[in-house]
Amino acid sequence: MSGLLAGKRLLVTGVITEASIAFSVAKLAQENGAQVVLTGYGRLSLVERIAKRLPEPAPVIEVDVTNDEHLAGLADRVREHVDGLDGVVHSIGFAPQSCLGGGFLDAPWADVATALQVSTFSYKSLAMAALPLMSPGGAVVGLTFDATKAWPVYDWMGVAKAGLESASRYLALHLGKQGIRSNLVAAGPLRTIAAKSIPGFDQFEDAWTERAPLGWNLTDSEPAARACLALLSDWFPATTGEIVHVDGGYHAIGA
Ligand SMILES: NC(=O)c1ccc[n+]([C@@H]2O[C@H](COP(=O)([O-])OP(=O)(O)OC[C@H]3O[C@@H](n4cnc5c(N)ncnc54)[C@H](O)[C@@H]3O)[C@@H](O)[C@H]2O)c1
Repeated sequence: MSGLLAGKRLLVTGVITEASIAFSVAKLAQENGAQVVLTGYGRLSLVERIAKRLPEPAPVIEVDVTNDEHLAGLADRVREHVDGLDGVVHSIGFAPQSCLGGGFLDAPWADVATALQVSTFSYKSLAMAALPLMSPGGAVVGLTFDATKAWPVYDWMGVAKAGLESASRYLALHLGKQGIRSNLVAAGPLRTIAAKSIPGFDQFEDAWTERAPLGWNLTDSEPAARACLALLSDWFPATTGEIVHVDGGYHAIGA
């Protein structure tokens, strides 16, 4: 087996369509020598159908990151397919409609709590659920949307991402002793189901299309996936708590 991830065993969450960033990660990882186990949420038969479109059909385990039983059983379910994990990809985000599209001042706590549990706290929950399978050299990688700024329409999801970015640094701190890294990829806007659920998402699309120094393809998640692969690989052995921007350079320029 050859490739950047030759022989690595990965758990990839977040596939729901072929446009999912996680689908690109899983596809590219297999093409680069990795063995992939997917997790699916909600519409499991749909995820299983999508999993068959990968170069190697991948097994799918049901995981709702808000379900303690799913998390408690995760390691055993994964062990049915692989004998350990070298990497975990967190590609999960959700916020109720009230939290997005300009609703920042009115969203109720119950909705904000859901957004934070699914999009922020789950980064730690998933990593801990997978930890019994991991060993030194392992990596956890997640997806963020640059949370250093307040964006129009992103609202509580922006707060959730700021929390995710912090949570990744704390995971790096607490798992560093075990030789496990935690890093995020800050992707530019991509037309996925999650993105389409944000009212006014086209504002991001226009901004990136007009201003990203390298240009930006709204339907190509491969650049973000490539960065995930790099962070999962052995080529960032001393990097943790980091955020790599894959946004055509948008974060680096003034408005
Ligand atoms: N699309 C973008 O513009 C963009 C940009 C930067 C970062 N991101 C981030 O990338 C990640 C993946 O999103 P995507 O854009 O590929 O969209 P997507 O809709 O394809 O993926 C989101 C995934 O989250 C999963 N999910 C939601 N609630 C869950 C739960 N309770 N338990 C387990 N899984 C759950 C969904 O099933 C889905 O697979 C998210 O963290 C998102 O915020 C997306």
